[in-house]
Amino acid sequence: MAQEWNPERYARNAAFVPELGRALVDLLAPQNGERILDLGCGRGELSREIARRGARVVGVDSSAAMVEAARREGIDARQVDGYDLPFHGEFEAVFSNAALHWMKRDPDAVIRGVHRALVPNGRFVGELGGAGNVAEIRAALRAEVAARGLDPERVDPWFFPTAEEYRARLEFGGFVVDELDLFPRVTPLPTGIDGWLETFAAPYFLALPAEERPTARARVIERLLPTRCDARGNWTADYVRLRFRAHRGS
Ligand code: BEZ
Repeated sequence: MAQEWNPERYARNAAFVPELGRALVDLLAPQNGERILDLGCGRGELSREIARRGARVVGVDSSAAMVEAARREGIDARQVDGYDLPFHGEFEAVFSNAALHWMKRDPDAVIRGVHRALVPNGRFVGELGGAGNVAEIRAALRAEVAARGLDPERVDPWFFPTAEEYRARLEFGGFVVDELDLFPRVTPLPTGIDGWLETFAAPYFLALPAEERPTARARVIERLLPTRCDARGNWTADYVRLRFRAHRGS
C-alpha cells in the first residue's frame, strides 16, 4: 500500500522535518547561481531556503499534492518518479532530506538517477533514516500487523540502511563519499504519536481491513506508551539519521 501525502496534515504534524533539515542545507552550502535539485521536496520548505541562499532550485516529488503545495510557495516543482529521474548533467548539486528512505524498492536506481542529473564533480548531499531508525515505533507497527496475519516484511515501506551499506551503494553508483555519519536524534513529536502515525505510517494501517484499523492503531499506541511518552504526555520518536555529502566522480 502506498504512503499518502497530505500537505496540510504534514504542516500540522511534521513541520519539525524541514526545520531540522536546515542543518543539511548548511552542509549543502548552496552557492549563488548554482542549479540545485531538491529530491523529495515535499511542500518545498527547504527548496525555498536553498533558493533564499541564491541557488536556482528545481523540486521533485512523487506526490501530486505535495508538488501543488510547493508550487503555491513559488517553487519550480515537478511530479517525478524518484526511481526514474529525467535529468542529464543539469545540476551542480542534488539535495535530499527525509525522502530517500521511502525509495525502498530500488535505492540503486535512485542513486543512478542522481548521478545522471549531476555535472562532473557535482555534489549529492542527503539525509535519510539509517539503521535503527524509529526502531521502537517500527517494532510496534510490525508486531501489530503480524498479529493480524500479515507479513511485516511486505508491509514495511521503509529503507533504513547501515552506514556501510549506503556508502557501498554510493560508491557503486559512481560517487566519492566525502562524509557519511549515522547518529541518533531523539525527536519530540509536537502532535504526539497520533500525529506521527497519521502522517507517516499509513501503509501499515491501509494493509489492514478498514474495520480493524482503529483498534490496531490503539494497540500500537498502547505498546509505545511506556517508552516513548513521558509523564507529562510528551511523545518522542527514536530517530536515527544517516547524513552524507558525496560528489560525482568523473
Ligand atoms: C524519517 O524521517 O526518518 C522517517 C519519517 C517517516 C517514517 C519513517 C522515518
